[in-house]
Amino acid sequence: MMMPSCLRGTLLSFRPILAALYPHHGSWLDPKWRPLVRVACLHGTAKHSQYTETSWLSQRKMASHIVGYPRMGPKRELKFALESFWDGKSSAEDLEKVAADLRASIWKQMSEAGIKYIPSNTFSYYDQVLDTTAMLGAVPDRYSWTGGEIGYSTYFSMARGNATVPAMEMTKWFDTNYHFIVPELSPATKFSYASHKAVSEYKEAKALGVDTVPVLVGPVSYLLLSKAAKGVEKLFSLLSLLDSILPIYKEVVAELKAAGASWIQFDEPTLVKDLAAHELAAFSSAYAELESALSGLNVLTETYFADVPAESYKTLTSLSGVTAYGFDLVRGTKTLELIKSAGIPSGKYLFAGVVDGRNIWADDLAASLSTLQCLEAVVGKDKLVVSTSCSLMLSRKKLARLSRSKRSLTSMCSSTESLREMTWLSTLASNCLVLHLLPMDGCNPMDHVA
Ligand SMILES: *[C@@H]1O[C@H](CO)[C@@H](O)[C@H](O)[C@H]1NC(C)=O
Repeated sequence: MMMPSCLRGTLLSFRPILAALYPHHGSWLDPKWRPLVRVACLHGTAKHSQYTETSWLSQRKMASHIVGYPRMGPKRELKFALESFWDGKSSAEDLEKVAADLRASIWKQMSEAGIKYIPSNTFSYYDQVLDTTAMLGAVPDRYSWTGGEIGYSTYFSMARGNATVPAMEMTKWFDTNYHFIVPELSPATKFSYASHKAVSEYKEAKALGVDTVPVLVGPVSYLLLSKAAKGVEKLFSLLSLLDSILPIYKEVVAELKAAGASWIQFDEPTLVKDLAAHELAAFSSAYAELESALSGLNVLTETYFADVPAESYKTLTSLSGVTAYGFDLVRGTKTLELIKSAGIPSGKYLFAGVVDGRNIWADDLAASLSTLQCLEAVVGKDKLVVSTSCSLMLSRKKLARLSRSKRSLTSMCSSTESLREMTWLSTLASNCLVLHLLPMDGCNPMDHVA
């Protein structure tokens, strides 16, 4: 059977990656890869039965999304640029140039890979929680910040301290090897919109021709990840500050809208923890308060790293103003069951994190396909988006722990390959779903997908 040239190209370009990812499944004739070959067959058949290949592919391709992207650069360019800046060996302009080049290259890669929902503001000079502290102007007094846009000196003093002031506390970012700077808040904290980074990154990508989904740490997760400043009375509740920070979130959202954003992503990973009723209630009231500011935008509330407990799921799927939910379906097997049993409110999007963001080695394609197929029945084809389980930032760390022989294979599959794997998966998945609907006896790829 004839294989259309575009698909043949795709198959061949994936061959070395597949070989690296699955060293024990080197042969194309291995039963594991038969679905792929079958899809290729069917493309040939479809071509001959008058489907024009390109429109067919573009119509059927499932939309894809990435939760976040590594920020250090393929050769750790950002790390070296930061160290040189901290040592006084290079200027702020030099640092900004390195950072802007890295962002541009990442956005371009994602765009070329055909990713539909591309994140912005997942870049950071330190971490995304500290960026949020800067956005909210929540600078502890000891850094003697006097207002205005927060500059490098204040930002890096909070992160690292200097000869005269200590840094803020650092703690682990959930169960990863990454850390974040813990916000220190008190009833006296005065919030103000003090870092326009989210908006400027959105505009920067747009100027490069890439319309992105700006990502913010959600307001409730921000407070739940904070700690009370020293000397604050025990009864003080961090969540009582919600009313003080929401006006700033509204300002940011308004600026993003004015800049042309049509989607926004709130990362609310604390929803995977076991939260108390009053904490869940804070989510409901925060999003109710933001609802009018968010109108006209599609709003994705993203969770990752674990299952979303049933109570949190209920709260999440009933939040006002939210139009899309993102889940880690690699670690969240119970979440998958919840989605199937409790469903997704009608008309809302499901961002299904089936591509493992932490493990670049493999994606169990057959399992991902059958999960996506199942979810399509829950939300409908046009509301299902294939996504990563978490930020791809986390896939880098894994490399250090691999044996040497494996590492040589790894050079072939950096996060770029993880991107390709996903686009390929989403193409494959949507094609399979389509093909499933077409009566073509004797050549059904799903026969081979358990
Ligand atoms: C240390 O950081 C504080 C707060 O940002 C700043 O006021 C001070 O000038 C810095 N000191 C030195 C030695 O850089």
